[in-house]
Amino acid sequence: MIEKISLGQNGPLVSKLGLGCMRMSRVWGGPANDENESVATIRMALDSGINFLNTGDFYGSGHNELLVGKAIKGRRDDAFISVKFGGIFYNNQMLGLDLRPVAIKNFINYSLVRLGVDTIDLYQPCRLDNSVPIADVIGTIADLIKDGKVRHLGVSEITADQLRQVHRIHPVAALEIGYSLADRQIEQELLPTAKELGIGVVAFANTAEGLLTGAMTAPLPADSYQNHFSRFQGENLVKNLEKVEVLRQMAADKGFTPTQLAIAWVNAQGDHIMPLVSMSRRARLPENIQAMDISFTAEEMNTLNTHFAPGAILGSTYLQR
Ligand SMILES: NC(=O)c1ccc[n+]([C@@H]2O[C@H](COP(=O)([O-])OP(=O)(O)OC[C@H]3O[C@@H](n4cnc5c(N)ncnc54)[C@H](OP(=O)(O)O)[C@@H]3O)[C@@H](O)[C@H]2O)c1
Repeated sequence: MIEKISLGQNGPLVSKLGLGCMRMSRVWGGPANDENESVATIRMALDSGINFLNTGDFYGSGHNELLVGKAIKGRRDDAFISVKFGGIFYNNQMLGLDLRPVAIKNFINYSLVRLGVDTIDLYQPCRLDNSVPIADVIGTIADLIKDGKVRHLGVSEITADQLRQVHRIHPVAALEIGYSLADRQIEQELLPTAKELGIGVVAFANTAEGLLTGAMTAPLPADSYQNHFSRFQGENLVKNLEKVEVLRQMAADKGFTPTQLAIAWVNAQGDHIMPLVSMSRRARLPENIQAMDISFTAEEMNTLNTHFAPGAILGSTYLQR
């Protein structure tokens, strides 16, 4: 069974491993997933003690919430539902944000209906920008909490200054943020700020868009969505895959997979840090659950931290740092 942690100080109890549902729907293009398998995966995750389910109203334009709703039907209390809103996606592209209070009040009702629930456990703008004052965005979510439509406020991919600003307006339960051996820039300011404020960290992209799975070879197939990002292009990819060899070797020596070590490394960064991992098929669950029991010697940790020092992986992804 998966250990439970409190999301933030005195926050709700959630599993230390979260299930990312995004890739069960078509967000960045690519082939559609088998819906029955996706629903079965969510149910198997709940059976295994993973209660934290992460979705977004723009993941497949509502498709993802419908899947989650189907999977949790009849077992609402087993699930802790985290929903992001505000992203405008069309044709596999993010077109912008809509954070207007009137829009948020509209979005929430659609999400509740699609999920088939009365309350969303964690509700968060997928990004913040300057189009709407932060106080108005957060104030609207605070109103939804008063109305009982939302339980806790979350934020996603914001800066340390923004995190402080939001937390002053309304207590933040969780910060959702990209974090992996390949993307460690947040260690400088954002992670210490979240810790200081007692905010839980929901860390996604532990495999760095698949780079750390050890399954990639250069060049990527022409239809891979990762080709859009300079990290996966030309010489960058060749050099980055050389770096991943160290992870692959350590995984082989320890009898695990590179993905397991990538998740275990994130898990080891703190009791308040939850690896949030995409899994669209049941076969992924045992491997990734086992990753939560992996520990590193001081020497192994030192090897990984040195080899994957911030900036060691070349090129960028959609994470804006
Ligand atoms: N706040 C944000 O801005 C933001 C951005 C992106 C994602 N997210 C959330 O975070 C979750 C995770 O992020 P992510 O999908 O970018 O990263 P991820 O968890 O690193 O997943 C990337 C890929 O790894 C695969 N995978 C999982 N376990 C594996 C294993 N044991 N061996 C080999 N491959 C494995 C998954 O495949 P399958 O899907 O085929 O199982 C997935 O395609 C998403 O589902 C979403 O809920 C949030």
